[in-house]
Amino acid sequence: MDRARRRSRFLIAATGLALILGASRAEIFALPLRAMRWLAPGADAASILTRRPLECLKVPADPEAAYLVEVGRAAFRDPLLLGGQAARAGVACETCHRNGRANPDFDFPGVSGGPGTADVTSFVFSSHRGDHTFDPKPIPDLGGPKASLKVSQAPGSPALKTFIRGLVTEEFDGAPPPETVLDALAVYVRGMSPAACAGLGLEPQTAGDAIADVSRAVTAAQGALARHDPETARVMIQAARAGLGNLAERYDGPALAPERRRLADAALDLAGIAGPDASLRLAAWIARSGDWEAPILKHEASSLYNPFRLAAALRHGRG
Ligand code: HEC
Repeated sequence: MDRARRRSRFLIAATGLALILGASRAEIFALPLRAMRWLAPGADAASILTRRPLECLKVPADPEAAYLVEVGRAAFRDPLLLGGQAARAGVACETCHRNGRANPDFDFPGVSGGPGTADVTSFVFSSHRGDHTFDPKPIPDLGGPKASLKVSQAPGSPALKTFIRGLVTEEFDGAPPPETVLDALAVYVRGMSPAACAGLGLEPQTAGDAIADVSRAVTAAQGALARHDPETARVMIQAARAGLGNLAERYDGPALAPERRRLADAALDLAGIAGPDASLRLAAWIARSGDWEAPILKHEASSLYNPFRLAAALRHGRG
């Protein structure tokens, strides 16, 4: 696609998003981070978007179970899993369930009925389930006590997988993911519990964590290829690319253009990996990943992972 067409498609997508959110196009373009689209007006974005709840996940010792947890964990963080309007807006499972937990600051016009709630049957996200009654519910903490959750997570019960399949394909209009990915999302959700919590509080959200998310997704892609499952590998590669995108938007401004370019190149390299030599090419990609990881870490203080820089960018955007 040529540059002009790409740009016009981008503008159409962004304008559509602006209409959904009831914001002007200028406002959308002024937001430094996508996640600001789903914060309540006046929320302290610089603090909220540089910290997150601690994850409550136990990665099992059994390699097969650990593999599925990793596949589920990566898919949970990929907006493209959800498809439709959610994908276009950059909403993933993890947007509402931050690090698998709740999100008291989530406030998406037309979807939330107040911070921390969402109507997951909203027609904003779905052409299937839109029921035209606005029925937002508090976003549950998936790392909370199992007894306080509604959907059975009993081993052997299909309820959780069925629920997640419905979420992806009906509530969010996503294409049906490979069965392994649905199984993996259920295994990931089951793997969360208060016993696995590192604590009740918040942790800083860092470039190092985002890099780890990318490398865990790529490792899961290798695991999928080793299991002769190219479909799951494709979803994992896509999740890794989404993770690189998350990093890139934090490295804004002209001074960080070389870092953004490195991330874009790494994402482009990943995009082309498929076919019989995919395993080898993934290994080569991992071997080269220091080329972008090191500069990203080096410049973290100048990025929007730094709460002071993010606060300054927000003042600038609003002014
Ligand atoms: C727009 C915000 C949003 C997104 C995105 C989202 N969820 Fe949720 N989720 C919710 C809300 C709100 C509920 C509670 C619904 C209810 O109570 O009826 C919920 C409920 C759940 C439950 C059931 C919890 C229980 O009580 O047993 C699970 C499991 C879950 N979500 C997993 C996921 C997964 C996996 C994804 C991605 C495929 C996802 N969610 C995406 C908001 C969201």
